[in-house]
Amino acid sequence: MKTIKDVNLSGKRVFIRVDFNVPLDEKQNITDDTRIRFVVPTLKYAIDNKAKLIIASHLGRPKGKVEPQFSLSPVLKCLGSYLGKDIRMAPDCIGPEVKSLVSSMSDGDVLLLENLRFHPEEEKNDDKFGKELAQLCDVYVNDAFAVSHRANASVASITEHAPVSVAGFLLQKELEYFKKAMADPQRPLVAVVGGAKVSTKLAALENMIQRVDKIIIGGAMANTFLKSKGIDVGSSKIEEDLVEVAGTIIKKASEKGIRLYLPVDAVAAATFSPDAATKIVPVAEIPKGWMVLDVGPATSMLFSEALYDAKTIVWNGPLGAFEMDAFSRGTMSMVNSLANSHALTIVGGGDTDTAVHKAGEADRITFISTGGGAFLELLEGKTLPAVAALIKAQQKTG
Ligand code: 3PG
Repeated sequence: MKTIKDVNLSGKRVFIRVDFNVPLDEKQNITDDTRIRFVVPTLKYAIDNKAKLIIASHLGRPKGKVEPQFSLSPVLKCLGSYLGKDIRMAPDCIGPEVKSLVSSMSDGDVLLLENLRFHPEEEKNDDKFGKELAQLCDVYVNDAFAVSHRANASVASITEHAPVSVAGFLLQKELEYFKKAMADPQRPLVAVVGGAKVSTKLAALENMIQRVDKIIIGGAMANTFLKSKGIDVGSSKIEEDLVEVAGTIIKKASEKGIRLYLPVDAVAAATFSPDAATKIVPVAEIPKGWMVLDVGPATSMLFSEALYDAKTIVWNGPLGAFEMDAFSRGTMSMVNSLANSHALTIVGGGDTDTAVHKAGEADRITFISTGGGAFLELLEGKTLPAVAALIKAQQKTG
């Protein structure tokens, strides 16, 4: 795939689609700027190479309407300090005013466009809207991995109209690490899958049992697997309609000779609250009316041993309700196992990323993906629509 390094940027209008869908608190302060920090190398590269840099992103889900609380303006200051320069903010992402702002730019200038999702056409992948965006640029760069699973105009139809379409460094890195982990891994390859629901991970589990050597399942979704083995998980969350499917996954894994690990003990709680009464019990002895909110210490040890010889580890989804300290040990222990491992470690998904940062171990993980849904779709074995569009455009322009 061609990247920003393969094109001449000097004096060109370079449109970089990023994903600045960052979390904001009630005062509109950014609470986690990872997605901004991670694209700085691409943005700096464009500035250093004398591009007229136009940055576009979505923020939140304003549903095609102008909603001030979803303005990208909170990003301005943070971005300006990373880039070490003043950035202008456009009042929109298309239209005569934006065109005139772009035409008055000098080499090395930076213009941040307003939220793409203020226009309903963005999420409809509207061709006319994609064309209008493309008219702002000479070079289009996709560095928005985290939204590349959406066929939106600024990542899909724009590529049909931009003169040249290339990948930014973050998109390139995300896809390369993923390939290293899943397509061409050093083995043993171990997948760790957690989170609340089997339903959201089903396609990923089905795909992963074709590829991994071991699979570890934790989080509330493990309850559905335990239930399929006839274990009574008390009042724990389960997905009744997927109990049979969970059983089929266990069977398929065993037929393929893949070790599938489930919790053997649990932190059970009387209620879903931070100060609930808790007990550590074997999974077969969950007290009536109690619920599983974390994996227990024996499980953490079992999971850690399963990772011992791993050469590649991919992790998506927390192992318990880690946002409450009382139920965070299983997830934190998994973070430590990955941090201490000599394997290539790749983590993806918002909650998993939060857990790694909370534990202060982000620097000891090989790669933390900026994608939630996009990462999951790669785990499902899908080609991301924006990546497909980029490849198609590059084949067309040669
Ligand atoms: C994300 O945060 O996962 C991406 O920015 C995509 O956002 P969306 O789920 O609102 O499309």
